[in-house]
Amino acid sequence: MEQLVLAFLLMMDIFLQSSYATLPHSLSQGSSLSVEKPNDVLKSSNGVFAAGFHSVGDNAYCFAVWFTQSANSTIVWMANRDQPVNGRGSVVSLLGDGNLVLRDIGEMDAWASNTTSLSQVELALLDTGNLVLQTPDNDILWESFKFPTDTLLPYQQITRHAKLISPRSKSNYSSGWYSFYFDNDNLLHLLYNGPETSSAYWPDPSTCWPLGRYKFNNSRVAFFNSSGDFQSSDQFVFSAADLGIGPKRRLTMDFDGNLRLYSLQEKEGKWLVSWQAFSQPCSIHGVCGPNSICVHGLETISCSCLPGFKVKYAHDWSYGCEPKFNLSFDVSEWIFFALPNVNIYGFDLGTPLPKSEGECKKICVQSNSTCKAVSYINGTCQMKSMLFNAVRSPNLEGITYLMLPKNSLQSYNESEEKSTQAAPNCPSSTSTTDIQLLERVYLHNQGNQFLIYLLWFVTVMGGIEIFCICIGFFYLYRARGHTRRVYQGYNLFVAAAGFRKFTYNELKKATWSFSQEIGRGGYGIVYKGVLSDGRVAAIKRLNYEARHDEGEFLAEVSTIGRINHRNLIEMWGFCSERKHRLLVYEYMECGSLAKNLSSNVLDWEQRFEIALGTAKGLAYLHEECLEWILHCDVKPENILLDSNYKPKVADFGLSKLLERDRLSNISSFSTIRGTRGYMAPEWLLNLPITSKVDVYSYGIVVLELITGRSPATLNAAAVNVDGSEHQNHRYHQLVTWVREKNINASSSSNDHDIASTIEEILDPRVDAQYSMAKMEVLLTVALQCVQEEKDRRPTMSKVVEMLTRHDYT
Ligand SMILES: *[C@@H]1O[C@H](CO)[C@@H](O)[C@H](O)[C@H]1NC(C)=O
Ligand SMILES: *[C@@H]1O[C@H](CO)[C@@H](O)[C@H](O)[C@H]1NC(C)=O
Ligand SMILES: *[C@@H]1O[C@H](CO)[C@@H](O)[C@H](O)[C@H]1NC(C)=O
Ligand SMILES: *[C@@H]1O[C@H](CO)[C@@H](O)[C@H](O)[C@H]1NC(C)=O
Ligand SMILES: *[C@@H]1O[C@H](CO)[C@@H](O)[C@H](O)[C@H]1NC(C)=O
Ligand SMILES: *[C@@H]1O[C@H](CO)[C@@H](O)[C@H](O)[C@H]1NC(C)=O
Ligand SMILES: *[C@@H]1O[C@H](CO)[C@@H](O)[C@H](O)[C@H]1NC(C)=O
Ligand SMILES: *[C@@H]1O[C@H](CO)[C@@H](O)[C@H](O)[C@H]1NC(C)=O
Ligand SMILES: *[C@@H]1O[C@H](CO)[C@@H](O)[C@H](O)[C@H]1NC(C)=O
Repeated sequence: MEQLVLAFLLMMDIFLQSSYATLPHSLSQGSSLSVEKPNDVLKSSNGVFAAGFHSVGDNAYCFAVWFTQSANSTIVWMANRDQPVNGRGSVVSLLGDGNLVLRDIGEMDAWASNTTSLSQVELALLDTGNLVLQTPDNDILWESFKFPTDTLLPYQQITRHAKLISPRSKSNYSSGWYSFYFDNDNLLHLLYNGPETSSAYWPDPSTCWPLGRYKFNNSRVAFFNSSGDFQSSDQFVFSAADLGIGPKRRLTMDFDGNLRLYSLQEKEGKWLVSWQAFSQPCSIHGVCGPNSICVHGLETISCSCLPGFKVKYAHDWSYGCEPKFNLSFDVSEWIFFALPNVNIYGFDLGTPLPKSEGECKKICVQSNSTCKAVSYINGTCQMKSMLFNAVRSPNLEGITYLMLPKNSLQSYNESEEKSTQAAPNCPSSTSTTDIQLLERVYLHNQGNQFLIYLLWFVTVMGGIEIFCICIGFFYLYRARGHTRRVYQGYNLFVAAAGFRKFTYNELKKATWSFSQEIGRGGYGIVYKGVLSDGRVAAIKRLNYEARHDEGEFLAEVSTIGRINHRNLIEMWGFCSERKHRLLVYEYMECGSLAKNLSSNVLDWEQRFEIALGTAKGLAYLHEECLEWILHCDVKPENILLDSNYKPKVADFGLSKLLERDRLSNISSFSTIRGTRGYMAPEWLLNLPITSKVDVYSYGIVVLELITGRSPATLNAAAVNVDGSEHQNHRYHQLVTWVREKNINASSSSNDHDIASTIEEILDPRVDAQYSMAKMEVLLTVALQCVQEEKDRRPTMSKVVEMLTRHDYT
């Protein structure tokens, strides 16, 4: 009897295996997979992966590749995540011309591989999980590994073109708000790109040089191998806790903003977390949305609204909370509400001030509601422009004061608030149940005790390490900031990666449908506008053909947004919608230096201060640790003046974003727009472009400040478009002219002669007293900056030093 049962079972097994074996591994030209036939699925020959239609919602299907061995199939790749197709009539077909097409009912193409091939091709699912279009000789025409969605499989590479984008939520597979990618600094980053703001949160943006990372290898590739070792061209490495060949693994950008490496427990079909980027998920930006507090629980985090706010969509906490009060409230009626042990990450307004709590609150109230809260830590206070990334933790020092209208608190009931906080009112979509998996599974599985301890050990050690590194950088950062403030008076604090994203309609409204043009430059037209919060802004509409993908634009713009210096124009936000790319800057009352020079309103003192401020701004761009940014277009049109005629440099960072092609192909010279008079010889001679090109342009600007003569008009005929005459014309005429006068002056021993020569070159229109000492320094600096040979020019920080060294009394 037993033998009979055994034989029966054996037969069943063979039957099952053969039916399983009948599932095809590949699809030939001219055939299709239909959404209506459950057996229209490709299987990899090892049986681990399947490809076909996968349900992603009510009557919503995606063409996907998934793991078959987990209890619930785990999707690793999707063709049409943002455009699911119907459950009836949809097919994916490999056409005769080699194109793989996904058609929704009604002949709508939802997705296509856009491939063509003259030879025969087939669609095959390889054992690695890679879905490929290949010829009979195994030449690969297209592969899913080149287009990851949210998951990386062993040896699948993340590259400069391939990045991971999280799903929207646990059950919604559309593109979400978090991505894992190589930024232009050649480093791997995690970026939050939400509905209102966008910020990179890993590696820690407050550290200039992330520990152990290497910025100078631009090959930009990263992958993990079959034993669970991740390696990257930026030298970031990590290893799975269960290191070794064996378990199936995947690296997934999860919907909650955490990057996790999972290992499959085949017996139970469950995924264990064997590495994750964050053990403290409250540090992930945007995880609770705006106007809320993130609190770490034992296993999960919980989100709750700040007092005076209510949750926006209870089913989706990532939208955060909205105010219960009216925003247009009389400012005199505001009060401060204390939140002990709460910190807000980023969104700093200005530098931390060493002031008393009372003084800080007063400044905050006077800011016309740009200031939403004041954080007070250890004797200094920091104004906050947005209530975002707030974290409560008992061991956080300091206190945050929230600015609220008085009457919103009359209805506020503290016991009510407490009860919402105690309740785990983060809905399941935000609670990170996947993390618990690790623990629960191990409790069931006594055999793996060692692994539990190993995992816990690694997690705890990782936590301690991250904590120590953070503390280290916190002090380093404070120390740096402090010295700078004392010794140079700079405003060097990095506004930590938080600024706004605007909608196109918002900006259209703010600029009265782009009616008030205030400037026109190489990169686009600038309009004046008034934002909804009353701030006057300069809104630049970029001539930007959206050929670079949006992520690159966002990453670049968020880099520019992080730059905060008193002599650099501040960017308040951006808009990236369909074809529109706009940047929102602070508005400068007095317009450009070019305008002010031509209308001749600047006296000598102002001109000197403009030269000095501009030098400080450029020095910050070149040499601060954030990034190495070349301006590439320093000229009086790009130096703007505020109401006190203090200069701020504009248009920085854009050359990198918008002229990548131009910089890599200098020979296409005729495409360089505008202002030849300010260009360094390197551009014409096809030499390497370094920060010294900005030094040269700066030198010309200073000569223009001194003499009042514009090189653009002097020099119009000096250089041919292809630069051929440049060899004969060794100098710009302005430079030559000044240099000759100066040689005459310095060769004479008589003080009176120097004075008279300087008088000769000075702008004759300015009828005012000047300090001979300042003019001499300015002229010396300018002549050094316009040296033909780039190595003989000083750096911008040297220029600042030279201009500030003297005590001009
Ligand atoms: C599989 O899905 C079902 C229903 O969605 C759920 O109840 C179950 O917990 C899931 N199993 C695993 C291992 O995730
Ligand atoms: C294929 O081409 C269409 C139309 O040009 C484009 O929208 C789509 O993104 C392309 N698909 C892929 C996978 O590149
Ligand atoms: C998934 O999220 C996207 C984007 O937020 C939304 O448009 C779509 O309706 C959502 N799908 C489901 C099934 O909720
Ligand atoms: C994976 O990478 C690590 C580190 O580079 C190496 O020691 C290990 O041998 C690799 N494993 C395999 C299977 O190649
Ligand atoms: C850059 O990274 C790649 C991939 O990790 C490596 O093969 C290459 O040797 C690196 N180049 C340099 C100059 O370090
Ligand atoms: C907000 O203002 C509008 C119009 O000024 C008013 O109708 C509304 O009742 C106010 N809401 C609250 C909560 O005060
Ligand atoms: C706030 O607004 C008032 C009047 O609207 C204005 O006088 C004041 O300068 C503003 N303050 C700031 C800091 O913008
Ligand atoms: C606070 O300030 C004191 C004295 O300046 C210093 O010893 C302490 O380390 C500071 N604490 C923090 C968290 O900065
Ligand atoms: C606050 O709420 C609690 C519980 O809902 C209630 O018992 C108490 O009376 C309320 N207090 C006020 C001042 O409304």
